[in-house]
Parts: sequence; C-alpha cells; structure tokens
Amino acid sequence: MKFFIDTANIGEIREAAKLGILDGVTTNPSLVAKEGKKFEAVIAEICTIVDGPISAEVTALDYEGMLTQARPLAKIHENVTIKVPLTRDGLRACRALRGEGTAVNVTLCFSPSQALLAAKCGATFISPFVGRLDDVSHDGMDLIRQIRAIYDNYGFTTQILAASIRHPLHVVECALAGADVGTMPFKVMTQLYEHPLTEAGLKKFLEDWEKLKT
Ligand code: E4P
Repeated sequence: MKFFIDTANIGEIREAAKLGILDGVTTNPSLVAKEGKKFEAVIAEICTIVDGPISAEVTALDYEGMLTQARPLAKIHENVTIKVPLTRDGLRACRALRGEGTAVNVTLCFSPSQALLAAKCGATFISPFVGRLDDVSHDGMDLIRQIRAIYDNYGFTTQILAASIRHPLHVVECALAGADVGTMPFKVMTQLYEHPLTEAGLKKFLEDWEKLKT
C-alpha cells in the first residue's frame, strides 16, 4: 500500500519524507487555509520535497470553472494531481482532464455507486472518506471493501485512495481491505511505529547493557 500524507504543512511533509515511506501528498481547501499561504506556492514547494502524486483541489463548483482552475495548477509540476469533487460537474471535469493527460483524484466519495462512476470517467484516484462515514455511524471500511470488489470485477485501474483516516487501525484495515493508497495525518503516520512494548523492551535492553559496565 502506498502512503500519502494528508496535510499542507511543509514542516510535517519534510519530517514524513525523512521516514522513507512517503509516496505522495494530499491537500484540501481546509488544510491549505490552515497554513495561511498562497495555494500555488504551497503546492509548488511540496513538489520540491516529495517525488510522487501531489493532490491540489479545485474550489469551483461548475465544469468550466473547475477546468479553468485545474489547468494552471497542473502546469506547476508533472506530479500535480487535480482533485475534483464527486459531483456531476466534477465527473465531467475528471473525464476532460484525463483526456488532457492530467492525473485526477475524485474526492468526497461516500458510496460505491459514486466510485463506479469515477472509475468509468477514468479517475486516477478515488478518495473514499472512511472516518467521515464512521462519524455518521456507517462503517467506512465497508465502502473500501465494496469499491475493491467492484474495481476488481471489471479490471478498473483507478486507485483506491483511502482518505479521512483517523487512527492506526484504519490504516491496517485499509491495507487488509486492499486499498491501493492510504492518506493520513502526520500524527497517524508516527502512531504506526510507536508501541509501548517497543519502548519498554528498548529501555530494558539498555539497562541490562549498562550493567555490563559495572
Ligand atoms: C483527503 O484527501 C481528505 O482531504 C482528508 O483525508 C479528509 O480527512 P478528514 O475527514 O479527517 O478531514
């Protein structure tokens, strides 16, 4: 499974890149707004840090507006992936941008029928939001499993990019369900390797080692 970091914070992206497991970055308007910097500048800087797909989301709601925003963004770097919402206009924009050779991440997916349409429109990535489904008492992981089955039934090459991941168990369950990519906050990425038994074991090893010197 590929690991993307879900942030627009340059410091976090640099730290995550040091781990050697980072395959790409996803941003959204909320994450970019938190940083208080110019959108295009943030995307350009991220592209200098991570050599992998970097999602940049359009905010227009209409087809023409999405294309007008997407085209200059796609020119920033060959790794820029345009993120469009899973709406009628978003799906149309996906089809058009894919025709121009631009990678597209269709976001805000909450149902298998939406995911099927995105694949039919040639999406590079589909982003089902696991955590936000859990928030409203639906099993987000069921959606990942359903999309996996549908895509495998028909050989769709659209990659399942599990989004809205909130904790390490989500990552493990996404991997078990066959998600191609998991995008997660920096905190979750660090929680994946932290374990109290590792800490305790290391402490004991070092204490025993010190005894050798006495
Ligand atoms: C990913 O592309 C989404 O922007 C993100 O995972 C949403 O996560 P949230 O539901 O925790 O805001």
